[in-house]
Amino acid sequence: MFDALKAQPQDKILILMQQFRDDPRKDKIDLGVGVYKDAQGLTPVMRAVKTAEQQLWQAETTKTYTGLAGDPGFVQAMAELILGPGAQAAGAATPGGTGALRQAFELIRHAAPGAKVWLPAPTWPNHTAILRYLGMDMAEYRYFDEDSGGLDMGGLLEDLGRVAAGDVVLLHGCCHNPTGANPNPVEWQAIADVLAQRRAVALVDLAYQGFGDGLAEDAAATRLLADKLPELLIAASCSKNFGIYRERTGVLLALGGDRARVQENLAWLNRMNYSFPPDHGARLVTMILKDATLRADWQAELEQVRHGMLALRQALAQALQTETRSDRFGFVAAHRGMFSRLGLTPDQVERLRKDHGIYMVGDSRLNIAGLNAQTVTVLAKVVAGVL
Ligand code: LMR
Repeated sequence: MFDALKAQPQDKILILMQQFRDDPRKDKIDLGVGVYKDAQGLTPVMRAVKTAEQQLWQAETTKTYTGLAGDPGFVQAMAELILGPGAQAAGAATPGGTGALRQAFELIRHAAPGAKVWLPAPTWPNHTAILRYLGMDMAEYRYFDEDSGGLDMGGLLEDLGRVAAGDVVLLHGCCHNPTGANPNPVEWQAIADVLAQRRAVALVDLAYQGFGDGLAEDAAATRLLADKLPELLIAASCSKNFGIYRERTGVLLALGGDRARVQENLAWLNRMNYSFPPDHGARLVTMILKDATLRADWQAELEQVRHGMLALRQALAQALQTETRSDRFGFVAAHRGMFSRLGLTPDQVERLRKDHGIYMVGDSRLNIAGLNAQTVTVLAKVVAGVL
């Protein structure tokens, strides 16, 4: 049986992660995988998470199963974090944001087998990989303008204008991965209008809430879509904003339709795929969101992380301007979130890795949080050198 297995395509982000770990160079710089790092290059456990873990250890009396859709308190707390107080949504806890996406795709396939899923070009490579794996129909809409490093709003609206009724359009709710370019509030209005006009279903991938312009600001587009569209899916991750990557904590929310029926289907999909979702991370998140002191501490640390990344963006844009004597990379300061796509060729990216031990994804996506005050200048000099 096993002889029949074929080699599987590997995820380029994960290959890079391994290559970095295997690189013996002391001064190597990891700008690859989307994991937050502080100035010392560490990915710390957030203070509120540590405190919640201590409290949980003291208070937890059982590890028996939760519900199939996870703890309803977690789903509600996440719905309110994303959609605002009093939010009403069907929802299920999932193993990370990827689990939420996978369940969203399966729900779509189940409810509307003919629906096409539209993805921004470019998008997170795993969107395409999972849809392909599930044998689902997909299409691309224009998103990024390589020349300006900004949004291709004209192309985007033109392509979304061709979406058929009932098709699903995947949008990055904030902090677009991999480009870092995001619609402004007026552009989001236009996107919501065209989706409403086309009677499309939106699927929001919200993996970086709090990493762009702030917790509420980063949820504004999702809230707008929830207001304007009769049906909406939200796949949210707690990996980054709570820093609990390995705990696999995410949620799939669904708005519209018969809520009880949708809820029943979300629970059933969990049962079919892995039965009960993981609970540890979800419980920590719930404790933090429901306790005023923990929540304030979490938000303060998250703001510090966000401001740190913004400062690195400004510093990198400035250093690139100095080193290249041009405004070519001005977009780095305008981008938001963890990533920016620099617009280097694969060959230039490879030279950065081979000659300088600087790791970024082949499409020249870099993780801003992988930098610090010193390496910003190192990177800018090396980039100017390979141009
Ligand atoms: C990334 O894009 O680097 C992260 O979302 C990590 C991953 O799983 O790819």
